[in-house]
Amino acid sequence: MDTQSIVILDFGSQYTQLIARRIREQNVFSAVLPCTASLEEIQSYKPIGIVLSGGPCSVYDADAPPADAEVLGLDVPVLGICYGLQFITHHLGGKVRSAEKREYGHAEVNIVDTKNPLFESLPADLTVWMSHGDEALELPAGFHLTAKTANAVAGIANPERRIWAVQFHPEVHHTRQGTALLRNFLFNICDAKADWTPAHFVQSTVAAIKDKVGDKHAICALSGGVDSSVAAVLVHRAIGDQLTCVFVNNGVLRRNEFFKVQQTMRDKLGLNLVAVDASTRFLAKLEGVTDPETKRKAIGNEFIAVFDDEAHRISATTGGVDFLVQGTLYPDVIESSSVKGPSQTIKSHHNVGGLPETMKLKLIEPLRDLFKDEVRRIGRDLGMPEEILERQPFPGPGLAVRILGEVTAERVALLQEADEVVVNEIKAAGLYRQIWQSFAVLLPVKSVGVMGDQRTYAYTCAIRAVHSEDGMTADWVPLPYEVLKRISSRIVNEIRGINRVVYDITSKPPGTIEWE
Ligand code: XMP
Repeated sequence: MDTQSIVILDFGSQYTQLIARRIREQNVFSAVLPCTASLEEIQSYKPIGIVLSGGPCSVYDADAPPADAEVLGLDVPVLGICYGLQFITHHLGGKVRSAEKREYGHAEVNIVDTKNPLFESLPADLTVWMSHGDEALELPAGFHLTAKTANAVAGIANPERRIWAVQFHPEVHHTRQGTALLRNFLFNICDAKADWTPAHFVQSTVAAIKDKVGDKHAICALSGGVDSSVAAVLVHRAIGDQLTCVFVNNGVLRRNEFFKVQQTMRDKLGLNLVAVDASTRFLAKLEGVTDPETKRKAIGNEFIAVFDDEAHRISATTGGVDFLVQGTLYPDVIESSSVKGPSQTIKSHHNVGGLPETMKLKLIEPLRDLFKDEVRRIGRDLGMPEEILERQPFPGPGLAVRILGEVTAERVALLQEADEVVVNEIKAAGLYRQIWQSFAVLLPVKSVGVMGDQRTYAYTCAIRAVHSEDGMTADWVPLPYEVLKRISSRIVNEIRGINRVVYDITSKPPGTIEWE
């Protein structure tokens, strides 16, 4: 890592990711590390500043996150946020207590030290977002109060030691001057350069991958989604044909997807791609299966088997494979076992079942510090088509979890047609990019209808469209009636086998996004 960075130590706040995002929006690189990271690990990021995040614990809790307080002695500016302020207070000899009046939500803060570089150009009264149960009671020696609420300490500083802290959350957009405050930390205090751009990221990541892989060979399981595609293109830029991508048709892809992904990734972008049509194998495993989890497992296991076969074949022709490329993003990292930060329990996400462990491949995860929108920016810089970059998320088990009941070739074909109508109409209405996911679900329910003078007895299709930030919660989208009307009319008129369309108006929770 030869880029200067701001290191964020994660004490478990649900907002930690947002701090990183806000800093990178200022074109300064920032990486989130678990609060337990060693000083060497922190220093390997060449930090020009350290942010201590918020967190759900009290510094006096038996299970308070065990960060190394030596981090306060490194010769770089520190910004504590919420729990970070209490951590600083507690470890440098001040006192923290359980607040008489807990503060959650909006609060008014008065800046008492208006000359403080952290508050430069900010108004004296700020509307901020608070979320804490503890407060600083006595400040450590050398610290002074910089801001307060009616009830409590809202900011402290020790400019000599280059330590600043605020009790509120500048990263949350309800804190109106939050970005200005973070900018002050970056540019007034840390002297950061705003030079972390997609081009810079591509350049330094390509160099690092080249260095790591040398003349060895890497493989990548390509799904056609944004993450694995951008990871593959990035690694291809670094090592060219030493990367082989494997794209598997599991029989439950969207219509023409097997063909389209090959066309884009191999023909347009020049990737060395092995496309395996294993749809018959997958559909055989799905025969008679109706339970959602059994479906997921069947698909996951079969995927591993197919990928394993291909990997061995590639290994035999290339003289061995050493590396596996994965499009892991930061929200996935907080789940992984290599980084055990306290916020890992907040998010749970689905994976199709992982990849073969027996191959003992070393991982290359070039996107592991990034968020989805940042990955899209990188993809754009790599010249990838918008069609791939703007794709809505698609589950690993594909259309199988959108076909309730048994998955058969006939039902897959029906749903592929309906899915294509939904996606095309949502795109035609200019709504595709604003919506997190929009799709059709095939129900195992038949009902009576009439077409011309004919009685029909056919399947029902449900339409689902949701807004979401991260898939963890979601709201159904009030699609314009005109769009619903077109989708419904096209599906029942154009698809023989579906004669009724319903719209799903369930939020998550209590529903989930997918029906299975
Ligand atoms: P749910 O249905 O749990 O979905 O609200 C949340 C997000 O995860 C996707 N999803 C999956 N992705 N394998 C995946 O790779 C799965 O088994 C799976 N199940 C759901 C879903 O599309 C949504 O974006």
